[in-house]
Amino acid sequence: MRLDKMLAHMGFGSRKDVKQLIKSRKVRINNDIAKRPNVHIDTERDEVSVHGELVDYKEFIYLMLHKPQGFISATEDGYSQTVIDLLEVEDAHFEPFPVGRLDKDTEGLLLLTNDGKLAHALTSPRREIEKTYYAVIAGRVTDDHIEQFSRGVTLDDGYETKPGHLRILISGNISEIELTITEGKYHQVKRMFESIGRRVTFLKRIRMGEITLDEKLPIGSYRELTDAELDYCLRQR
Ligand code: URA
Repeated sequence: MRLDKMLAHMGFGSRKDVKQLIKSRKVRINNDIAKRPNVHIDTERDEVSVHGELVDYKEFIYLMLHKPQGFISATEDGYSQTVIDLLEVEDAHFEPFPVGRLDKDTEGLLLLTNDGKLAHALTSPRREIEKTYYAVIAGRVTDDHIEQFSRGVTLDDGYETKPGHLRILISGNISEIELTITEGKYHQVKRMFESIGRRVTFLKRIRMGEITLDEKLPIGSYRELTDAELDYCLRQR
């Protein structure tokens, strides 16, 4: 890969900025001052440093975000803030995008990556990746509902859902549940509850495949995936 392309990808500014950096002798390759922006480097083997600091090259970024309410799961939106607005510039310049969508008023686990192949694999309906949601429901949720969800329910547009696994945490005038589904239709959890005459008043995704929301991650913040989480993701590609 060209040196200027690599440094621009790693957030050292535009190609023009990077050329300037090289010209001012601030960039070294294997300890020798880099002379030309178009020199080819082996990102696996060559050690590139800028201002004496080693550049740890990576092509892809894999982030776990604890999404807050009020943010759109998109990279751009004319009106609302997007989840990308929650990222530091040094992560945003990798141009990650959300893996699937959570509604604006849904919180919880959202993966962000610039690895299109992985995003596709995790959201492909054929893969049937399990997603678990915690929800607060207006009204009583009963064992009958567990039974109905386990058979699949019919949504307002006639779509028959695949079976969902419903776990009741608290049943009362206000109930708390966990629902695991393998699909990702528009507003799916909310519409599944509507189909049984109940309303979701709070929704949070807590798991996607083998990746569980890190509860130590404050709402609105994010971190890179751990090696184990990344391993799982790369196995899905
Ligand atoms: N189901 C919903 O209704 N909303 C979400 O954000 C995710 C799943």
